[in-house]
Amino acid sequence: MTDKKSDKPTGHLLIVGAGGGLGQALVKHYLEAGWQVTAYSRQSAPLKSEQLDWQQIDDYAALREVLPDTDAVDGVISTIGMLHNDDFMPEKHLGAVNATQLEHSFKINAILPMLVLQQVLDKLPKKSSAFFVQLSAKVGSITDNYLGGWYSYRASKAALNMLLKTASIELGRSHKKLVIAAIHPGTTDTQLSEPFQERVADDKLYSPMQSAERIAEVIANLTTEHSGKLLHWDGSELPY
Ligand SMILES: NC(=O)c1ccc[n+]([C@@H]2O[C@H](COP(=O)([O-])OP(=O)(O)OC[C@H]3O[C@@H](n4cnc5c(N)ncnc54)[C@H](OP(=O)(O)O)[C@@H]3O)[C@@H](O)[C@H]2O)c1
Repeated sequence: MTDKKSDKPTGHLLIVGAGGGLGQALVKHYLEAGWQVTAYSRQSAPLKSEQLDWQQIDDYAALREVLPDTDAVDGVISTIGMLHNDDFMPEKHLGAVNATQLEHSFKINAILPMLVLQQVLDKLPKKSSAFFVQLSAKVGSITDNYLGGWYSYRASKAALNMLLKTASIELGRSHKKLVIAAIHPGTTDTQLSEPFQERVADDKLYSPMQSAERIAEVIANLTTEHSGKLLHWDGSELPY
């Protein structure tokens, strides 16, 4: 199917972690572009549309039970990720590193996305083009780490990137046209970045809709050459 306004392909998309800042913006963007969207969130639906099936789910490890009844979907985007919560802020120095924060960050940022991929795999076509995109972060790049700090977030996103790369190699054999990519959205005005926005120049803090459009543009241009890569929101490749 094609979006009549933009001539870009449309289809059936799953958005996992749809209730966050970028998740909601991605849902809006893809609905406007004509996609059928099945959205998963721990939160209730913020909007209604005939093209939208919003599924409230307590635990993403049980996603398989609520997947759509179709043989295949055209793509999956997972936004799942956390930087801080009521108990933790990113660690500024080694002394602040603790096992509880490390474990929780790895669970949300690396383990849950992998369990999502594992569970949706049956819905990803083996012969036709499809994508699995997980939002990651440039600060998870080991090569690009010049500042230090943020131990748990950096390390768990680096682990995520490795897990996605590893899956892309395996699935490249069975799903020849499937692209598995990690995308860095850029600093976006959501609750995740809110405590750190003071340090960000106004022109480097993007609105969720702006970032959603850029992410969608990167996705529209994905080819199998991109599988296993970490991509910047401008489409360029970032180093691991
Ligand atoms: N905002 C930025 O500046 C920025 C920069 C670089 C990378 N990113 C990445 O972009 C992604 C989306 O971020 P965002 O800014 O939209 O943040 P957000 O508003 O906090 O959304 C985070 C998403 O992760 C899910 N999530 C968070 N904690 C969870 C938990 N304990 N268990 C299960 N799911 C949980 C939520 O799903 P529900 O729908 O169930 O609530 C939510 O949709 C994240 O992976 C983040 O690391 C963001």
